[in-house]
Formats: sequence, C-alpha cells, structure tokens
Amino acid sequence: MESAKQSAHDPAKAERPTAPSLKRLRQMVETVMAGGGPARIQAQKAKGKFTARERINYLFDEGSFQETDILVGTRCADFGLKEKNPPGDGVVTGFGTINGRETCVFAQDFTVLGGSLGHAHAMKICKVMDLALANRVPVVGLLDSGGARIQEGVDSLDGYAEIFRRNVRSSGVIPQISVILGPCAGGAVYSPALTDFIFMVEGISHMFVTGPDVVKAATGEDVSFDQLGGCEAHASKSGVCHFVAKSEPDCFRQVRELLSFLPQNRWERPERVANPDPARRAIPLLEKMCEMDPRKPYRIHHVIWQIADEHKFFEVHAGFAKNIVVGFMRMGGEVAGVVANNPAHFAGALDINSADKAARFIRFLNAFNIPIVTLTDVPGYWPGVAQEHAGIIRHGAKLLYAYSEATVPKIAVVIRKAYGGAYIAMSSKRLGSDFNFSSPSAEIAVMGPAGAIEILYSRELAAAKMDEEKAALRARLTAEYKDRFASPYQTASTGSLDEVIEPSLLRYKIIRALRLLRDKRQPGTHECRGNIPL
Ligand code: HXC
Repeated sequence: MESAKQSAHDPAKAERPTAPSLKRLRQMVETVMAGGGPARIQAQKAKGKFTARERINYLFDEGSFQETDILVGTRCADFGLKEKNPPGDGVVTGFGTINGRETCVFAQDFTVLGGSLGHAHAMKICKVMDLALANRVPVVGLLDSGGARIQEGVDSLDGYAEIFRRNVRSSGVIPQISVILGPCAGGAVYSPALTDFIFMVEGISHMFVTGPDVVKAATGEDVSFDQLGGCEAHASKSGVCHFVAKSEPDCFRQVRELLSFLPQNRWERPERVANPDPARRAIPLLEKMCEMDPRKPYRIHHVIWQIADEHKFFEVHAGFAKNIVVGFMRMGGEVAGVVANNPAHFAGALDINSADKAARFIRFLNAFNIPIVTLTDVPGYWPGVAQEHAGIIRHGAKLLYAYSEATVPKIAVVIRKAYGGAYIAMSSKRLGSDFNFSSPSAEIAVMGPAGAIEILYSRELAAAKMDEEKAALRARLTAEYKDRFASPYQTASTGSLDEVIEPSLLRYKIIRALRLLRDKRQPGTHECRGNIPL
C-alpha cells in the first residue's frame, strides 16, 4: 500500500481543489441528507423507529437505491415555510432493486415537519408513482406522517387527491404495497387502502380516520391509539392490514418475500424458481384424512404445507376472517395463490368477512396472472340474523363474481365436503374452474344428510311411533342419503368433477394441471382489471 507521503508527491494523485459548483451541489445534498436534524432524528429513534433513508437501505438490495428529486423544495411562503426550507419536503423518493428487480419507492420522513404532506411532497410522490407505472415496476410506499400539512391548506388535500387518482390508475397494472411505519391519520389512510397490500409494525404503526380525541368528543368512547388503530385492531378486526411485523427489519424482510411471488406488472408472470421438491411427492396425510369425521375441526394449513413446494406457504391476511385462508406458495417452481376453507374456525363456513377477503385476493391473482388453487372443505354459509342484516348476500356475491370473472388457471379440490351454495362459490366447475378434483371421501350435496332427511322424509319420520323406531329409520335414511348424494360420485357422473383422485397424489395432480394450463388463454378476456378494495 502506498504511503500518504508518496501520493502527496505524485502530481496525478495530489488533492485538487473542489470545483465551486461541485462544492455547492455537495453542500445542498448534504443538507437534505441531514433530514430534520440530530434532535428530531434522536426523537425518531427514541420511538423505536428508523429514519426514512435507513428504511430504504433495509428494503432495497445493497447499494442499488437511486434517489430522485433530492433538491425539490416547498413553494409555500405561509407560516415561514419557505425560510424553513424543509429538506426534501419531508419525503424521500427514488428507485432501486429488490431481489434484483427494479422497484420504485417513496418514504415519508417524520423528522421533517412530521412527514406531513404538502404540495411539493405530494408532487414528488406522484412523480415516482408515474415513473413506476410508465416503466411497469412495483411501487412501495413507506408511510410515517402527521397527515395533511396544515400550513399548506387545500394544496395538501389536493395532493392526496392526486395520489389517490394514481393509486387507482395503477391498480391491477403494477403491484402497489403500503408499509405503515408511524401515524397514518385522516384521509391519508385512503392511499394505503387503495393499494394491494398493507404492512404494519407492532408498537409503531397506527391508522385511523379520526383519532382518539375526536372519538372521545364525538361518541364519548375512551380508546387508546393502539386499541383504535394499532396492528391488532387492523389485522384481526377491520381487515385493513394484511401483514403484521414484529420490527422494522422483520417488516422489510416480509415485503421482499411478498414481492418475490409477484410479477413486475400485469403483462408478466411471476418468476419461476426451481427447487428440488419432487412433483410426485406423495401425501399420506390426505389418505388418512379420508377416515376423518367430516365435522372434526382441523387447520387447513396442514394440507397447504403438504402440497406446497418445500412445505412453504406465505400467508396473506392471516389474522382476519380465519375461516378462509389465502396466500402464496410455489408448486413445481411456479407461483400459485391458495384460497382454502379453514374448518378450524366457524367450521370453515363462509361469512361476510371471509367472502370479502377471498374475493379481493382472487381479483388480485387474476390481475397479475397468478393461478388459483382452491381447497374446499365447507359446510355452507354461516347462518344468523347478524350475517343476513349485515349483507351476506351482497358480500357473498363478491366471491361468486371474483371466481366467475377470473380467467387465470383455476384448480379446485374438495378435500372433505362442499354443501349447497358454498359448493358453487368455492370455484365449482360450472363457475368456470379448469380442473375440479375431489378425495374419495368427499361429501358434495345440496345439504348435509341430517337436514336433508328431515325435509325429504318428514312424513315418514313423524309416522314412526316409538323413539327407537324413529332413530332406526333416521339412521337408515341417513346412510342411504350419504351413499347416494353425500359422496363425490354423483358429481363425477355429471362431469362437474374431472376426477376423484387418490388423495396421496394431490400435489402431483395439481402440478400437472398447472403445467397444462400455463399458457391458458381465454379469448376476449384480457382487458385491464383494477383491484378495487372490497
Ligand atoms: C404540519 C405537522 C403535522 C401536520 C405533525 N407536524 N403533524 N406539521 N402539519 N399535519 C409537525 C409538528 O408540528 C412537529 O413539528 C413535528 O411534526 C412532529 O410532531 P409531534 O406532534 O411533535 O410528534 P408526535 O408527538 O410524535 O405526534 C405525532 C402526531 C401529531 C400524532 C402525528 O403530530 C399529530 O396529531 N399531528 C396532527 C395530525 C393531524 O390531525 N393531521 C391532519 C389529519 S387530517 P416540530 O417542528 O415541533 O418538530 C388529514 C386529512 C387528509 O390528513 C385528507 C386527505 C384526503
């Protein structure tokens, strides 16, 4: 290694004075990079939060981030804002690579005017969203903001409107992901709500239209920030949030993983990733399930883990409407979306929330060329006045709409039972599914044996005199009904099932079907589809 003395004598290597123009640029950039200054950065850290640039560094491949609009500043002269010259106007924008693929990003900087959204801030976000759309790459928003910048009045509100419009224009065209990393209040919540997926981090993320103080004044309810709009509230009750992370690094790892399942845009397919898991791997568990009491609860995850490549399943919306499970897996290296009834919750019955959850996920899969694998184990719709009056008819219709509309490859398997309207809704053949399989023990009928025989044989049962006589008659009729209707064979005989399969071959059957359907084209059905929030 050469010494400092040597290099000082080398005229080529001697330090040249920095050109004034370069000095000026460097100073300007340095000022912006300092964000809101040490005290506010300290305050940000004290809340357990990273700065906007640290977040971007965690999320993107090392050294890949290119910042845009570093020198954009506010034009607002009110409240001394021009003199304050908020660095970067409180938002960092740019592009880089995630898993080696180009992605655009904006990250609100809470250390600058609380990340509040003024006109220039909004225009920076709009510009990077336009860049993402024009170049057909995903866009990730890292939100940490006090909302509309009060000093800029209606310019701030109009800024949100510009963003919302772009969210909708990009919907179903490029994947849009929102990561809530601080407060997100008022109308500001609606940009994330218009995107495809929302992440929150325990302890630091909050979303609400009106905060606890307004709630108290308006309704008298006492509620904390966390109770009102924290992770738990939105991941399990409102269904606003799709993913919860324990920490910011955990969150960025999950965002990267989600993106690995998605194509860059609606014209592409997700990347195929080869893995050593054999397509013909047998699944003895499914054979054992043929012996299972049809009413016994179990977690459908056990089946998903068995059929997925390397037993890996990336669940979406895990805490919300647990009676239906949705998420991503790979089969034979190709990405597939799973929609599965979960008998561990409400016996796997369909209700309002599960219909909304599944319908929106199906519409996302369809927009982005991802095949749908449906695992059916459903006793019907969840009954009750509450469900009827809250609109199960209106919400349940969304599920029928989503499956019927979807033109991506659709494969459905009846694992244990499929009754009534719920049989139709879970990607039945006549709703347009490409391949429908069932296990040999599957029950498929208009209704379960107990209810059916009470209706079909009400007179005979009423005529039976003794209790024992009634019980024996009921047992005989139930057995006859089960044999005739509560089996897959009537359905197979009509062609509404393509095959009653050897259960242990399920993984192979699905992979083979996916291979055939890889280039599926349905003429006239490739128009652009948005992913409207349902
Ligand atoms: C301007 C804001 C601001 C805002 C925060 N700041 N929110 N400046 N406009 N909306 C500034 C603060 O003045 C402060 O500046 C700095 O950001 C940090 O704020 P703190 O209050 O010190 O931080 P903290 O205690 O962590 O509280 C964060 C907060 C609180 C909960 C977000 O700041 C807050 O309640 N802000 C107002 C939220 C709000 O009502 N926004 C409008 C929502 S309605 P200094 O200089 O002291 O560091 C809305 C409509 C959108 O957004 C409609 C879209 C259609």
